[in-house]
Order: sequence, then C-alpha cells, then structure tokens
Amino acid sequence: MNNTARVLNGVEIAAQIKAEVADEARALAAAGITPGLAVVLVGHVAASEIYVRSKVKASAELGIRSEMLTPPDSITTDEMLALIAELNARDDVDGILIQLPLPKHVDTRRLLEAVSPQKDVDGFHPINAGRLLSGMPALQPCTPGGIMEILRRSGLPVAGQHAVVLGRSDIVGKPVAMMLLNASATVTVCHSKTVNIKRYTRDADILVAAIGRPGFVTAEMVKPGATLIDVGINRLTDAAEVARFFPGDETRAAQFVARGSTLVGDIHPAAFELAGAYTPVPKGVGALTIAMLMHNTVKAAKARRGMAGHPPAATKA
Ligand code: GUN
Repeated sequence: MNNTARVLNGVEIAAQIKAEVADEARALAAAGITPGLAVVLVGHVAASEIYVRSKVKASAELGIRSEMLTPPDSITTDEMLALIAELNARDDVDGILIQLPLPKHVDTRRLLEAVSPQKDVDGFHPINAGRLLSGMPALQPCTPGGIMEILRRSGLPVAGQHAVVLGRSDIVGKPVAMMLLNASATVTVCHSKTVNIKRYTRDADILVAAIGRPGFVTAEMVKPGATLIDVGINRLTDAAEVARFFPGDETRAAQFVARGSTLVGDIHPAAFELAGAYTPVPKGVGALTIAMLMHNTVKAAKARRGMAGHPPAATKA
C-alpha cells in the first residue's frame, strides 16, 4: 500500500455524529422529550437480526428509546398495515423502521408507503424520495446520507467534481446520486446495462461503488488521486479468493484463519493504492448507517414537534 492514499475512517466519523446526536437527545430530554424508535423485524433473517440488535444498542447508548416488534414470518400485508397504522398514531414513536428484506408474500412497496413520511427514518417513503429529488428538506436514506457526511466532514470537494455512482438501487445508488447532484457534483450513474463502465469510472473524481460484487472495481478502472467510496460488504469464505484479493496481506490471512471469513468491498484493494482518499471495508461507509439512523430519529422527533431540525448540510445547493 502506498503512503499517499488517505483512509477515510468511518468509525471515527460515525462516533462524531453519534456524539452530536447524544447531545441533541440530552437537550430534548431536558425539555421532557425522549425520541422513540420502533424497529419492525419480521421473521428470522440472521443478517437482519444482527443489524436490528445493533440499532437497538446504539439507541440505548444515545438516549433514544427503542422498541423492537417481531411479528412472525406468516404475517400478512394487511396485518402489517394495521401494525404500521398503530405506530403512525402513537405519540411516543418518532421513527419507524421496517427492516428489509421482508418475506416475499408481503407487499414491501405498499408497506413502505404506509409509514408516515414524518416518521420515515429510513427515507424510503416516496414523499421523502420526492423531496430529496426536489432539493427540499427531508428524512434521507441513511447509507447515502452517511456517504455525504464522510465527504463533508473530511473536507473533500464535491461541487464541480465528476461523481460516478455504480448501482441504481432505491436504497443507495439513486439517493446518493441525487445528494451528489444537490451538492453540485456532475453525476453519472452506471448500472448492470451500462456499456463499457470503465470509460466512466476512469473519469471519476469521486467513485461510489454500490453493486454488491466483490472487488468489481479494479485498479485500471480508477483515476489516480480519485476519492473512492466503497459501499460493498461482501463476505469471502474461500481461501483462494482471500489470497487473490489480499496477496501478501498477513493480517487478513490471519483474520481469515481465525474467523473463517473476511470482508471485501466492491472495490479491489489494489485500486485503493491509487486513490487520493478511500473508505476501507470494514470500518468505512457501513459504520455510518446506524449513526445516520440515530440522527434521523432525533431529527424526526424535533420536526414532528415543530422544532427546527438541523438541515442535512450535505444537500445544500
Ligand atoms: N436492510 C439492509 N439495509 C437496510 C436499511 O438501511 N434499512 C432497512 N430498513 N433495512 C435494511
């Protein structure tokens, strides 16, 4: 690894944001308000259970009241709609998070649309998506919001930069493209049907990879000095693959032996060597998601009571 690429430490930035959220929660508590988050976890998806536990734990640490609702896998769309209506109506619930993915038999879009836009701490409701599109204040999706905070708090320029986003998901690709555009970047969105992706990535000043393919972005696809933002979290369980991605990296090899797996992002580690700055995996973008959820919960608690929430600076034009 060369010495010039700057590591953007997601854990440190997440800690800053969490400290700010805890301060805000304390100020609200002094006014007799405890922000409340309801997390709905349907059935038993192992990864979702881990995420949800982390969300509940972070809430407790920051002075946010949280509750977990765990309906069974067999719950119907109508029953979920009734549950959401109840949470919408409760005054002690400021944020509602429906953990995804949901079982196939429930209508996910209908449910996300049923969450009150004021309590939509995931920023997935079409009203919030539309507000983001229009550059209006909104509850914004957590991972894209976290990416903007990394750029902003690291002092990396966005206005006038060519930002290339790989992936067009509703959760990351599309909203981060919109946020970058609102921050005056020139934005290109590439996806599975893009012809000759390298042509775009090589011109990127900021490259955001959110496609879920281990090491997809190779060194030859990157402009030297670029800012690389890696949203991918891919678990490697094959020793040969670990050796291919991390040749000569003894720390990784030891970790793999101890745990039976290691994580790699959507950007090949060799590409990081060319970067001006990059987010590592782990301890990069992933660390921000929960911090931004906490931020959104406090923001929703304030906004619902007519108190000015601080607007997300990253979306200022
Ligand atoms: N599943 C994976 N990521 C997310 C997220 O950001 N929000 C929700 N609700 N579910 C998820």
